[in-house]
Amino acid sequence: MTHKVLLIIGGGIAAYKSLLLIRELARRDIETQVILTKGGEEFVTPLSAGALSGKTVFTDLWDMTPTVEGEAEMGHIELSRSADMIIVAPATANLMSRAAHGVADDLATTTLLATDTRVLYAPAMNVRMWEAAATQRNVQTLRNDGALFIGPDVGDMACGEYGPGRMSEPDAIADAVQGALMGDMSLDGLRAEKPLAGRKAIVTAGPTREAIDPVRYISNHSSGRQGYAIAQALVDQGAEVTLVTGPTSLPVPLGVSTVRIESALDMLAAVEAALPSDIFISVAAVADWRPAKPQDKKVPKPKGDVPPLEMVENPDILSSICGSASRPTLCIGFAAQTHDVVELAKSKRLRKDCDWIVANDVSGDVMGGADNAVTLITQDTEETWARVDKRAIARQLAGRIGEVFKDA
Ligand code: CTP
Repeated sequence: MTHKVLLIIGGGIAAYKSLLLIRELARRDIETQVILTKGGEEFVTPLSAGALSGKTVFTDLWDMTPTVEGEAEMGHIELSRSADMIIVAPATANLMSRAAHGVADDLATTTLLATDTRVLYAPAMNVRMWEAAATQRNVQTLRNDGALFIGPDVGDMACGEYGPGRMSEPDAIADAVQGALMGDMSLDGLRAEKPLAGRKAIVTAGPTREAIDPVRYISNHSSGRQGYAIAQALVDQGAEVTLVTGPTSLPVPLGVSTVRIESALDMLAAVEAALPSDIFISVAAVADWRPAKPQDKKVPKPKGDVPPLEMVENPDILSSICGSASRPTLCIGFAAQTHDVVELAKSKRLRKDCDWIVANDVSGDVMGGADNAVTLITQDTEETWARVDKRAIARQLAGRIGEVFKDA
């Protein structure tokens, strides 16, 4: 699904980086609509922002002269409501100050006041302006209102000083946007009741890599998408989430503390270190075996011979957490099956001693794909959910978990 974001480009020298940001977002399949402030126009032109975004650039509250078909009716309210999230980059001290105080005296600030979605600020300013008490107060106010921040980075600045104040790099901002868009970005969602507030959850995700030598390993096709989406959905329900993940190319979900590991042994250690927890969800595709003797040096190719590879069994992370003294209240496993999906998953639930198991039909293109078809098996119920987006499955599962803890 293509996401749409609204990018407000403020008046700072870093505005040129925001043009690159439009390209970085497009690469991640995110459409950008640009608002250029008066100050922003001093640094970049509507023409360049329009050419890169492929959309009319709006600059003036009173003179929105749309030229793109279908946008003729677009006022500032529609503009702010049509986006999945708003990015302010560069966010100047002045722009943040006006937004923090609810001033609505131009198109950018009016849009920020009217929005029903969350705003990501990428501040850029002189180090003293950033550190000024007034700016820090405004940042705190915006945070309290649900705003997200990236940066500023520390480094040399255009004004010749050194310190925090540089706008984050476009690829880092685009990654943060992509990570944020995995979650619920509505302000209503932010203010909604959080049944998992005060609860801790540990989620494992992705594949593990089992080293043969420093350059070779055994792994599998897991993308990590389902686990990442579950971590995000639990955060959206108010949980404090630790995501223990094998190597993936996914952006880190917003508000999740992430522990990156490689092997099954590392994953088990990381999960144990994150205990105690109320909830444990084992989504990772853990390699069942590992090479018995991983070599310190690259194994040379023997002439004519195929080297033997002795394997040993990996620990079963789900089973060992379910059997541990500090067992989380609710332990959920996933069962990847290609046949007899529900029956095999039911016996797996009993064998691993978890409370629920999500039976996953991996006979098609599920592994690594965006969709999933699952059956949730609990102690006494069994329900099949339609083949939908992995994020929808994640939200549905988080909702069910929320019900368990709501009145507990
Ligand atoms: N799991 C785990 N540690 C392992 C293997 C699996 O924690 N070493 C977890 C998975 O994260 C998942 C559940 O156990 O939640 C079931 O994984 P699955 O691959 O379906 O089952 P296996 O135990 O590997 O059984 P089989 O390969 O025989 O289906």
